[in-house]
Amino acid sequence: MKIFIDSADLDEIAQGFAWGVVDGVTTNPSLLKMAVEKRVKTGESLDLKAYITRILEVAGKTPVSLEVTEYSAGGMIRQGERLYELFNPVAENVVIKIPVNPAFKDRDATHFDGIKAIQALAQKGIPVNCTLIFTPEQAFLAAKAGAAFVSPFAGRIDDDLRKKARIRFDKTDYFPAEGMENNGDILEDNGITSGIDLVQQCVYIIEQYGFKTEVLAASLRNPRQVRESAIVGAHIATLPFNVIKDMLKHHKTYEGMESFTADIVPEYVDLTSN
Ligand code: E4P
Repeated sequence: MKIFIDSADLDEIAQGFAWGVVDGVTTNPSLLKMAVEKRVKTGESLDLKAYITRILEVAGKTPVSLEVTEYSAGGMIRQGERLYELFNPVAENVVIKIPVNPAFKDRDATHFDGIKAIQALAQKGIPVNCTLIFTPEQAFLAAKAGAAFVSPFAGRIDDDLRKKARIRFDKTDYFPAEGMENNGDILEDNGITSGIDLVQQCVYIIEQYGFKTEVLAASLRNPRQVRESAIVGAHIATLPFNVIKDMLKHHKTYEGMESFTADIVPEYVDLTSN
């Protein structure tokens, strides 16, 4: 399973790549806002074009998703093309992120605008990451339209299941992959019993029918969800920087370091130092 870093923070992205474990980057408008605000807070004047260019350079040849902010098919296609034209020459690694269904309650986008935009961009050879996927059938249609990646939002499904059942939780709290029982019933949303279940169903459909699309498990909030994404065969997991760091932590590892360090014999150190 590949690991992408889910961040628009250049420092985090650079560190992730320096560690040699990151295979790509995903951004979204909220992540970009956070990164911009962080820079502005330090008094830095921000040239957004130069900033995004730097992210693309740091990512090298690995895919970097940049999300559109338009919501009509025409608007998303134009903006996707513009982003691609502007930034793909930097490192040939731009992927355009398109919401599977950008309809709003009170705006005029149609439910198929996302699918239309995916198809138009894919036909022009522009890779698309289809985002905001909450059902396997959304992933299926996005794959049919030619999306290179589909992003099921595991954590937000878990949030939704708990919220509807009025269960209190923190954003990073683990939600069991096999589902959560509440008053004798397993919580579910139209047959989806957890975020990992959503990822698994997407992987199953994509692989069953031989799509080239990769399932990019998104909205993962803790290391155990990363493990479970790998177990159910997600092709990629996109992770906040903190989750990548947390994947290495274990109290027994710390404890082992303490005891091994206490037992080091000086002769061994002499032998192995210059
Ligand atoms: C991925 O690209 C998504 O935008 C992201 O993983 C969402 O994560 P969140 O639900 O923790 O905000």
